[in-house]
Amino acid sequence: MGRTPFSSCSFILCLACLSTTLAQNSPQVTIYYQPGHTPGASQTTVAAADYTGAAAYNPTVLQPPDLPNPMPSLQFGIQLVNGGTPGTSIPQPGAFMGFSIEMSVANQVLGKNSSYIQVPFLNLMSNIVKRAGAVHVRVGGNTQEFAEMVDSLPNGRILQKELNNTSNPTQTPPLDYTPDLLYMMRNISDFLNVRWYLGIPFNDTNWRLQIAERGQEILGEYLIGLQTGNEPDLYVRHGHRNEGWGPNDFLSEMQSLVSAMQTSASNGSPYASTYQKLLIGPNVNTGDWTPEMVWDTGFVDTLNDNLAFLSVEHYPADNCAAQFNTGGQIVDPQAEFPYYLQHSAGQGLVAPYLNSTAYAQSKGKKLLMFETNTASCGGFAGISDSFGAALWGLDYGLQMAHSNFSGALFHIGGQNVFYNPFTPPPTNQSTFRQWTIGPIYYSAIVMAEALGAKGDARVLDLNVNDGNTYTPAYAIYENDNPVRVALFNYMNDPSGASNYIASIAIGGGNTGQSPSTPSSVKVKYLAAGSVSQKGNFTWAGQTWGDHFASDGRPMGEESVQTVNCDTGNNVCQVQVPAPGFALVFLSEDALSESENGGDDVKTFATSAVTRSINTATVDPQVLATSNGHKAGELKDRLGSTSKGSTGGVGERKVGKAWMMAVVLGIFGGLMMV
Ligand SMILES: *[C@@H]1O[C@H](CO)[C@@H](O)[C@H](O)[C@H]1NC(C)=O
Ligand SMILES: *[C@@H]1O[C@H](CO)[C@@H](O)[C@H](O)[C@H]1NC(C)=O
Ligand SMILES: *[C@@H]1O[C@H](CO)[C@@H](O)[C@H](O)[C@H]1NC(C)=O
Ligand SMILES: *[C@@H]1O[C@H](CO)[C@@H](O)[C@H](O)[C@H]1NC(C)=O
Ligand SMILES: *[C@@H]1O[C@H](CO)[C@@H](O)[C@H](O)[C@H]1NC(C)=O
Ligand SMILES: *[C@@H]1O[C@H](CO)[C@@H](O)[C@H](O)[C@H]1NC(C)=O
Ligand SMILES: *[C@@H]1O[C@H](CO)[C@@H](O)[C@H](O)[C@H]1NC(C)=O
Ligand SMILES: *[C@@H]1O[C@H](CO)[C@@H](O)[C@H](O)[C@H]1NC(C)=O
Ligand SMILES: *[C@@H]1O[C@H](CO)[C@@H](O)[C@H](O)[C@H]1NC(C)=O
Repeated sequence: MGRTPFSSCSFILCLACLSTTLAQNSPQVTIYYQPGHTPGASQTTVAAADYTGAAAYNPTVLQPPDLPNPMPSLQFGIQLVNGGTPGTSIPQPGAFMGFSIEMSVANQVLGKNSSYIQVPFLNLMSNIVKRAGAVHVRVGGNTQEFAEMVDSLPNGRILQKELNNTSNPTQTPPLDYTPDLLYMMRNISDFLNVRWYLGIPFNDTNWRLQIAERGQEILGEYLIGLQTGNEPDLYVRHGHRNEGWGPNDFLSEMQSLVSAMQTSASNGSPYASTYQKLLIGPNVNTGDWTPEMVWDTGFVDTLNDNLAFLSVEHYPADNCAAQFNTGGQIVDPQAEFPYYLQHSAGQGLVAPYLNSTAYAQSKGKKLLMFETNTASCGGFAGISDSFGAALWGLDYGLQMAHSNFSGALFHIGGQNVFYNPFTPPPTNQSTFRQWTIGPIYYSAIVMAEALGAKGDARVLDLNVNDGNTYTPAYAIYENDNPVRVALFNYMNDPSGASNYIASIAIGGGNTGQSPSTPSSVKVKYLAAGSVSQKGNFTWAGQTWGDHFASDGRPMGEESVQTVNCDTGNNVCQVQVPAPGFALVFLSEDALSESENGGDDVKTFATSAVTRSINTATVDPQVLATSNGHKAGELKDRLGSTSKGSTGGVGERKVGKAWMMAVVLGIFGGLMMV
């Protein structure tokens, strides 16, 4: 199929489809019934093809693609030099790869309200902040466009979808939210350095500025941008603007928005002078306009004082025909899988934007990939949730960094998408299940380590091995010197015969420099048994497990390999399994910056036993005074993580044992882990 552009879609309507959930091993699936819904036998199996549960736990496992023919060379050299290398990117932050959370699911992913924050979410963000110093999260998407702030909602809810009044062809219902959504975000930022992007509704030009006004008031410096218009190049197609509405009309509307903000400022808003400088546009999603069509209106010069970032959105493919019965050609994921397992995928995605990243630099602006993932309309079963997607996301992320994007946000929908970096359990199962961590989360963790926390990582696609598409590599430079090397092997060969060895040298040879290859390097692997595997991927030996298995903290012992280099020939030989990824740290400093260059580690103990334990009953006072303590002393950090106890590390084990007892007792022999 062509890599045709499509808008992202929303899946909120399908949340209700979820009646049973399941787990693991294709093609046989075990279905776990809810209490009170157990039909006679306690478990049943169905073939993957008959699976009707939520997409986020779909059991489809694809066939790994065949080995390439001809095979690439399995031994090749990588020559690096100190003191500056042409073609490296602009300096990149460790927080380059962030997340985009569909606004309508923020109350599932972030928390229920400002005093009920999801502990797994905090842990997942903490893992990245520790490595990168910060994490950037957008709350928005199609559902931001019709969103309306209200003072309160029934039953203390912070979000409510008007499901019975869908006036939007992308099936996006209007969304009501309360200011407590923003307080919840602020509370998260008070725990961890999470910085937020929000969006101003653009469904009409009766500007609703409450999200900017209250967002600035409540989030303060943690609000880093306000998206203005989500995919305006699709507005006409989706019936949100009249036929003929184009880039110049969009610019006029942006000017109207800015003048509404200026009016707010002159009417006494203490925040408008700040937030009117935080705008993010044009957010085109390869619909009917190219970015150049917007640049050529004078967009950037006209709005220069208001634009904090320029941005685009893009997905490589779409699964809309299957998800929404659009009547279009249904895409066969098996046929698409090989596309994702090549370096050319990320290169091809970025190529149409190279002119725009250069243009952004010429204007002194940063260009963001504001929303992306494996495929719009939820991604593909077996691709979006496979180890292959972790390699794809990491290569694409590094390719965007190399190409002078300044950040990229990977989208999170609800239960009914395949591509979520992380998925909370269905709401009514949150008392006994944990989170499901997807491949893109692993991409983000590795990306954070590859770039480190200093904020001046320069990335270069090394075009190694004669540019072979199955064995790409990047170098990351700081202060003009290489500090890390990223090595991919997209091939799938359990025999080990397609593992490759990269021989890395610094200086020496014909570079005109004296050799400065270190005597040893440290290596971390991103690993799985095959490109098709779902769940249980490992990064440096640690995992976030299978479906429903994670409280956000990595499990297992970290394992970092030491590779002794050949000091006679000044090369370090690093093996990369097929499939797999290796991050090579060229010095101890490069390693420690990646591991601990960010904020002091905060982890939050949780258990899956009761709602109260899922709640972040963290006493901010305790947290605030606990700086400097290590994760092992959680007792010192957390006021309480479980009802009626003072919490602490031991709580988790106790909780799990208790959970097992309950599960075995009440559900009769279900395996939960
Ligand atoms: C959970 O929600 C689904 C979908 O609304 C419903 O079918 C199911 O019965 C609920 N289960 C429990 C235990 O409430
Ligand atoms: C979160 O925010 C609310 C509203 O501002 C506040 O009352 C509450 O104490 C905060 N909770 C935590 C855990 O910080
Ligand atoms: C835009 O959204 C708001 C809030 O949902 C709604 O009140 C308004 O009618 C919408 N405008 C259009 C033109 O649909
Ligand atoms: C926040 O959500 C929790 C869990 O649903 C609830 O117990 C609590 O009352 C809510 N707080 C507010 C202020 O609504
Ligand atoms: C929409 O749903 C609300 C709440 O369930 C109900 O009060 C209202 O009558 C419904 N409106 C329509 C047009 O069905
Ligand atoms: C449904 O939405 C439309 C457009 O936003 C609005 O005009 C209408 O009043 C809404 N109807 C109900 C029943 O809420
Ligand atoms: C690059 O973008 C600029 C600004 O839109 C445009 O003027 C120029 O024609 C573009 N160049 C190419 C090769 O597309
Ligand atoms: C990225 O920007 C740098 C600095 O301007 C430039 O040298 C490099 O060629 C650019 N990379 C790409 C892929 O455009
Ligand atoms: C993941 O690991 C768990 C625990 O070792 C195991 O039970 C499960 O089968 C594994 N799942 C996959 C998909 O490998």
